[in-house]
Amino acid sequence: MKLSAPAKVNLSLRVLGKRADGYHDLESLMAPLSLCDTVEIDLHPGAENFSLTCSDLTVPADDSNLAVMAAREFSTATGVPLGGQIHLDKVIPHGAGLGGGSSDAAAVIRGLNVLTDLQLPLEKLESIAAGVGSDVPFFIRGGAAWVRGRGERIEPCELPQQFFLLLIKPPFGVSTAWAYAAWANSKSAEDPPSSTTFGGVQWMNDLEAPVFRKFLLLPVLNQWLNEQPETCIARMSGSGSTVFAVCPTAADAESLSARATAYLGNTFQIFTASTISHL
Ligand code: C5P
Repeated sequence: MKLSAPAKVNLSLRVLGKRADGYHDLESLMAPLSLCDTVEIDLHPGAENFSLTCSDLTVPADDSNLAVMAAREFSTATGVPLGGQIHLDKVIPHGAGLGGGSSDAAAVIRGLNVLTDLQLPLEKLESIAAGVGSDVPFFIRGGAAWVRGRGERIEPCELPQQFFLLLIKPPFGVSTAWAYAAWANSKSAEDPPSSTTFGGVQWMNDLEAPVFRKFLLLPVLNQWLNEQPETCIARMSGSGSTVFAVCPTAADAESLSARATAYLGNTFQIFTASTISHL
């Protein structure tokens, strides 16, 4: 079985505070993107383990991969012994704040729900997903949503419009755990959030300030994007390291992509994408 696993972008991300369990409470408007990995699942009758192959050799293909953890979690939560082969065809860069690994994991949970014919309700799939990682539940339904708690509370919503994006992933990633710790250790928690309204959405990201303070290339990139004529909004996605520009049309995103590629060279990964309303 083959499934599409979309990237996400955080249109807004507010970090509300640190919790007793070490995680942070957040409130985020997230949307899936047309930029997708493909996840292929083959169940082997009688097998009780999953093996993983991946088109990107820099992605760990062992039990620490979220896709394998998701398969295990599904099997444990349902009490159905499962095993087989998972293949990830990667397009979404990792360490990028685009949720690629989490989306692959959610695709595995959605796929196993169909392959086993268990037909569990979405709420049950979301609770299995929450056991795999904070960003995984968002990818179960496949549309835009307000995400709260540590990521497990999903309120589906419609975006006011479709957005066209140019995404730039520099040749380094940012650890999510580090970004939240940097937020907690910085004064940014007390700073008024910097937000910009465009297309009926208040765009903001509380992790930007602490991440930009350490990864000095990112504010430079963000500034460059802001100076381009096609850019309506420039922001970082999630905990980074991807920065993106929102453009008025898909053609504007393409023309900005060509200029960004000429400016930055091929050590940066540059993508155009649009928000999607369903899988
Ligand atoms: O849940 P996940 O394993 O993806 O989170 C990675 C790390 O990011 C956590 O260990 C935690 O340090 C941080 N995190 C957080 N609050 C969240 C989500 C993630 O502090 N809501």
